[in-house]
Amino acid sequence: MFPFLALISLSYAAIVYGQQAGTLTTETHPKLTVQKCSGSNSCTTENHSIVLDSNWRWLHSTSGSNNCYTGNTWDTSLCPDPATCAQNCALDGADYSGTYGITTSGNALTLKFVTNGPYSTNIGSRVYLMDTADSKYQLFNLKNQEFTFDVDMSQLPCGLNGALYFVEMDADGGTSRFSTNKAGAKYGTGYCDTQCPHDIKFINGEANVANWTASPSDPNAGTGQYGSCCNEMDIWEANSQGAAVTPHVCSVQGQTRCSGTQCGDGDQRYDGICDKDGCDFNSWRMGDQTFLGPGKTVDTTKKFTVVTQFYTSNNSTSGTLSEIRRLYVQNGKVIANSKTKISGLSAYDSITDEFCNAQKTAFGDTNSFEKLGGLNVMGQSFDKGMVLVMSVWDDHEAQMLWLDSNYPTNGSASTPGVSRGPCATTSGQPTDLEKNSPGATVIFSNIKYGPIGSTYAH
Ligand SMILES: *[C@@H]1O[C@H](CO)[C@@H](O)[C@H](O)[C@H]1NC(C)=O
Ligand SMILES: *[C@@H]1O[C@H](CO)[C@@H](O)[C@H](O)[C@H]1NC(C)=O
Ligand SMILES: *[C@@H]1O[C@H](CO)[C@@H](O)[C@H](O)[C@H]1NC(C)=O
Ligand SMILES: *[C@@H]1O[C@H](CO)[C@@H](O)[C@H](O)[C@H]1NC(C)=O
Ligand SMILES: *[C@@H]1O[C@H](CO)[C@@H](O)[C@H](O)[C@H]1NC(C)=O
Repeated sequence: MFPFLALISLSYAAIVYGQQAGTLTTETHPKLTVQKCSGSNSCTTENHSIVLDSNWRWLHSTSGSNNCYTGNTWDTSLCPDPATCAQNCALDGADYSGTYGITTSGNALTLKFVTNGPYSTNIGSRVYLMDTADSKYQLFNLKNQEFTFDVDMSQLPCGLNGALYFVEMDADGGTSRFSTNKAGAKYGTGYCDTQCPHDIKFINGEANVANWTASPSDPNAGTGQYGSCCNEMDIWEANSQGAAVTPHVCSVQGQTRCSGTQCGDGDQRYDGICDKDGCDFNSWRMGDQTFLGPGKTVDTTKKFTVVTQFYTSNNSTSGTLSEIRRLYVQNGKVIANSKTKISGLSAYDSITDEFCNAQKTAFGDTNSFEKLGGLNVMGQSFDKGMVLVMSVWDDHEAQMLWLDSNYPTNGSASTPGVSRGPCATTSGQPTDLEKNSPGATVIFSNIKYGPIGSTYAH
């Protein structure tokens, strides 16, 4: 979710801030260190910061403090149409810890699921890594590189998702392509992913007010006519019961606004410009139910390290992305990824186009990953540069059952591909989670990137 600040001019901005003294919050990005590694465990510390996505921010009139958007409804006088709304409304700075439950300390980021703030109860959050100059989003190209982090998701139950992933957002949040977006990366604008989300309040410098429909189940969300699409590399979508690594690709490069069939909504899922299913490697779904979870080989009751390696066809950055490998480190021990144990499928332990095709065939799934270009296109997205996203969320559409339970829920758990985790098909209801799991938290820490083999002890 998110949006931006549309200020008419800098002098006007000064007046706005003058009028709002005491209530408007200065935007200060929490600091987060990241390590860039070069050789065998030779790493240097970089000073970065993180920024909250604009959808979570208070959106109010530039000339005062009237809400442009309340709950899941736009103010019809400030926002009669997309362009006027972008002119009339400003995004405010964020109280990261008090309102949103987001804190950093050194190399660690903590995201709380429920935060009872002074004005509201906040649910979940999504943040992006800024560059070391704190001016744009950091862009990553992980071809022929590896990316490593530690995670503590012991406090994330069934139905929640502590996610760490990359999307092909504009580094500046969209300000150079869309002049009516004056807020930019500093205020967390420009989000996109392969689900082409419609809940984004501003897309391409305009408010997404046309045909806005309040969510029937989420008091803080709605959907507009447009979606915001782009390539997505899900390194980690997980809770204490399971995890998936999933590349997803689109037929378009860069952040792209969709409408109609392009968005791939509902029964047009496989007709859109992005591959919503992706090619997932979830150890449980791939037939090893003993690998990752509480007390298992990778023990989710404790912190562990997740390493993801991006091999290319000729082991050079300019090669074609050909394989995504995963390994774990816990208690000083390197743990190889699980192997697939599915009847009729070879024992794969990494993501290649061959694995993706074999998996889709074995599960009887539509193969839009291959249709839209597969790993090669994921690599092209890294060539352009991808933004690091970290979030915690619950799922008003499918209760996260696609990650941790049987999905589709009417499928038989004995049908290959249906069982994805141990959670009940009745779990993951947002109302239950928001009421019964107020302490849910994910901690991402110790992010490192560099040449393959450089980011962990082995
Ligand atoms: C990062 O910040 C620390 C503490 O403020 C400082 O000592 C260090 O020199 C900075 N490193 C770089 C590369 O700027
Ligand atoms: C809104 O929805 C209606 C009917 O579904 C459609 O005809 C119209 O083009 C949509 N867009 C806008 C901007 O109203
Ligand atoms: C790339 O590196 C891997 C691992 O070191 C090696 O197995 C593979 O043969 C190399 N591929 C090429 C094309 O050099
Ligand atoms: C790797 O492959 C790419 C694409 O085929 C090619 O352009 C590049 O020259 C190759 N690099 C090396 C070092 O072989
Ligand atoms: C499950 O439900 C979907 C949608 O209602 C339907 O298309 C599908 O055939 C059902 N599958 C089974 C195995 O009953």
